[in-house]
Amino acid sequence: MDLAFSSVILYTFSGTGNTTKVAQMIKTNFETKGIECRLVEIGKLETLPQPPEGALVGIGFPIHAFNAPTPLMRAMRSLSESLDSQKCFIFKVSGEPLKLNNAAAKGLKRLLKRKNYETMGDYHFLMPYNIWFRYSDALANHMYRYALGQSRLIVEELTNGANYTPKRAPLRAHAVATVLKIQKPAAKLNGRLYKVDREKCTLCGVCERGCPVANIEIKDGKVNFHKHCAMCMYCAMYCPEDAISIGLLKYWKVNGPYPYTRLTDDKSLPFPLITAKTKGIRKIFIKHYQRLDQKLAEYKIEV
Ligand SMILES: Cc1cc2nc3c(=O)[nH]c(=O)nc-3n(C[C@H](O)[C@H](O)[C@H](O)COP(=O)(O)O)c2cc1C
Repeated sequence: MDLAFSSVILYTFSGTGNTTKVAQMIKTNFETKGIECRLVEIGKLETLPQPPEGALVGIGFPIHAFNAPTPLMRAMRSLSESLDSQKCFIFKVSGEPLKLNNAAAKGLKRLLKRKNYETMGDYHFLMPYNIWFRYSDALANHMYRYALGQSRLIVEELTNGANYTPKRAPLRAHAVATVLKIQKPAAKLNGRLYKVDREKCTLCGVCERGCPVANIEIKDGKVNFHKHCAMCMYCAMYCPEDAISIGLLKYWKVNGPYPYTRLTDDKSLPFPLITAKTKGIRKIFIKHYQRLDQKLAEYKIEV
């Protein structure tokens, strides 16, 4: 195989683990092809390890309010300038395929261009919501299995020299993404309103250990929230006692992670769930999965 890169490094920020799962799928697929792939989770890092010379750089993040999360952008700013137009690709993870999500990587792309990176792909994976409401087991299973297929597909495309032409996101997506940048200061403010139900809390430390931006500290028998909350929902989702209230968003909490392994083993779940005949609100997913089905068929990848 005549490759345009010698190894792969994936930088990811993930709140509740969906982006990490997708990154692990991508990593496994590169490794299956005998290509070395390193995964760097950037949340708590003080300094970012720079990409090895000649490596393909992948950058993954969950879409937050139609934008890239603050910790991801902060880390990417510390990426040093590439001397020989290093190749990179972006993978965004979000709960729905609305076109409004299409401008989420615009700031990141601008930054990468300034640092002399050449983008080979901008991919969008769907994984279930970690805020607003919980997706059904059947939909979570559908998304996870398609993400497995899509991760194989993008590794095929990237190793074949992906011919990427940036799609222009609709103007309204740019406008909404710009307006919703307010989410960044709002996340910090809202983070100060987080509360713990002391009757339920057992001080088990799951929130403190897992917060991807180290914003939580247990001290003197109390859970303290500092001022760097990225509103990623890790603490709310993973608290085993459902003891955390998330400020102004308290009615949008999703508690308990999605049990993907159990779901993929459960043969009683309908699959594929999204088809041309899908009705109701789930119709919003049809086009996304039809397009993906076509591409998967081109590469003879089964989900
Ligand atoms: C604060 C916040 C804002 C979000 N905004 C969007 C959004 O604009 N569009 C979308 O499709 N999903 C949105 N989501 C859903 C996440 O992108 C989705 O659940 C993703 O799978 C989470 O990935 P993670 O587990 O790696 O954090 C949002 C989630 C959070 C916590």
